[in-house]
Amino acid sequence: MRYVMKGGNPLVGEVVIGGAKNAALGVLAAAVMTDETVVIENLPDVWDIDVLLNAIRDVGAVVERIGRHTVRINARSIGSVTVNNEFIKKIRASYYLLGALLGKYRRASVALPGGCNIGSRPIDQHLKGFRALGATTVVEYGMVNAEAPHLGGGHVYLDVVSVGTTINIMLAAVLADGNTIIENAAKEPHVVDVASMLNSMGANIKGAGTDVIRISGVQKLHGTEYSIIPDQIEAGTYMAAAAVTMGDVTVRNVIPKHLEAISSKLMEMGCEISEFDDAVRVVAKKRMNHTKVKTLPYPGFPTDMQPQISVALALACGTSIVTESIFENRFKYLDELARMGASAKVEGGNIAVIDGVTRFTGAEVSAPDLRAGAALVLAGLAADGCSVVEDVEYIMRGYESFAEKLRELGAEIRLADNDKDVQKFKLSRSI
Ligand code: UD1
Repeated sequence: MRYVMKGGNPLVGEVVIGGAKNAALGVLAAAVMTDETVVIENLPDVWDIDVLLNAIRDVGAVVERIGRHTVRINARSIGSVTVNNEFIKKIRASYYLLGALLGKYRRASVALPGGCNIGSRPIDQHLKGFRALGATTVVEYGMVNAEAPHLGGGHVYLDVVSVGTTINIMLAAVLADGNTIIENAAKEPHVVDVASMLNSMGANIKGAGTDVIRISGVQKLHGTEYSIIPDQIEAGTYMAAAAVTMGDVTVRNVIPKHLEAISSKLMEMGCEISEFDDAVRVVAKKRMNHTKVKTLPYPGFPTDMQPQISVALALACGTSIVTESIFENRFKYLDELARMGASAKVEGGNIAVIDGVTRFTGAEVSAPDLRAGAALVLAGLAADGCSVVEDVEYIMRGYESFAEKLRELGAEIRLADNDKDVQKFKLSRSI
């Protein structure tokens, strides 16, 4: 599938941000750790979430979507600790079921995760964490197996700050016998959200949001009702959309504190930013200024916003330097952006030198991954004429109603199944 769009309209108006996909993935895994019923609210309606829900259903839990954004899960009937359904390999967060099932049933077997194609994504730190809790881990035949007849507490020092590892060890450790300390833990808002959800189920986790997390294992967890935090990256993407299209966008239902790294970068580039209790407004009145961006673990600038800010910088005055320090292969989309007229070169694999141009021109490009795909759509909305972004299935993994929300802000964009739909769109706009 592809999006076809006609660029040039400044995006103006308000957009309501949904629940955080990356928090939701951890929260859903946590939900299987009790035999009581868990109700999760503010769940984003995106493909990655469907994949995880199906996997949870496949191992035997009862999963009921009781609204577009609400799900009720009861995991009492889980009959298998092997997760290997058709799609699970495609989402990175499948590994959360390893921590959750290992914690609850003392063993688990999950297909080795895939995920976005943004560089090698090892799971050595996850396995090191499970081993510190007394588990044995084996990777064979495409599966990760973990087993711990006696799951105890442990002391884990992470070699890299890893969101996934931090959440996974938390999941396994909450039901372990004893105390666990995770040092050099990730501090991302979704780490805190998963910890809050587990605590609302009776877990004892302290320090989430700092780099030392202490967990005292408990005997069992109970049911809860939990509402997921707003999606920092969805919000940031619409903030960048305002900057790229010289628009005026208010993102609503957000936690402005989680957006500070993005807001301050956009401000440096010349955007006017106003913060409200649960909203942030971005106004871009003139061409952006160049700047430097370096991705870092939270509270640094998020790697998942790197492509979107780079698109804004590709239209800014002067030369910008973007350093990607989390993933090694996250600039592939720049070749696609070059088709629209951007001028950028990548040095040493992780530094992009971007010379701002005054305009993009419409082109056919393809989305290499989730966030880069969204960034290419923003570029198309700024470009003169018509653009087509192919492979938007990637975008659907993480953005709910992307085209609809953009249209409400004044974008001319449609989902197209085939070339005929693209032609129809072009004809209707005399392109
Ligand atoms: C999560 C997010 C992803 C985001 C990333 C960084 C989810 C589902 N995905 O991914 O959108 O881009 O955080 O904010 O929440 N690493 C190791 N060994 C490991 C684990 C990680 O070396 O065992 C390295 C990775 O290669 C990477 C760095 O640690 O260089 C950070 O990765 P990590 O925070 O684990 O990313 P994910 O949790 O997979």
